[in-house]
Amino acid sequence: DTVFVLNGPNINMLGLREPDIYGHDTLDDIASRLEDQAQALGIAIDMRQSNHEGHIVDWLQEANAVGARAVILNAAAFTHTSVAIHDAIKAIAVPVIEVHLSNPHKRESFRHVSLVGQAAKGTIAGFGALSYALALDAAAKL
Ligand code: DQA
Repeated sequence: DTVFVLNGPNINMLGLREPDIYGHDTLDDIASRLEDQAQALGIAIDMRQSNHEGHIVDWLQEANAVGARAVILNAAAFTHTSVAIHDAIKAIAVPVIEVHLSNPHKRESFRHVSLVGQAAKGTIAGFGALSYALALDAAAKL
């Protein structure tokens, strides 16, 4: 009973990257809190990050092949551009929960379209690191 937590480009820079927008937590900080939360929920998480679009596609297909309970996906900048990730979400049976630290709708207009959100089950955005925790709660209840 595993939830994949997939992160796209520049999410490895969390903590250093525009902290006024993304906060001071590193991806490792978020991962260790999610691990504790997952343990309390009685589920496992498999957390990954890549700067490469194809890795996200491969991992979505892998989540489906192993019968993951859900995917929590912060596709980062690929959110706004990737037809390949949109198609991969549509191709799999596993529910995908889109997450963002920031609220893209409050930001530049190029962030207002989400190709991920147009294929995902639902979206949680704007709560900083808490967006991931809310998504994990949702995944546990699916
Ligand atoms: C982000 C929002 C995206 O627009 C941006 O490209 C990111 C991070 C977020 O978590 O707020 O890299 O996905």
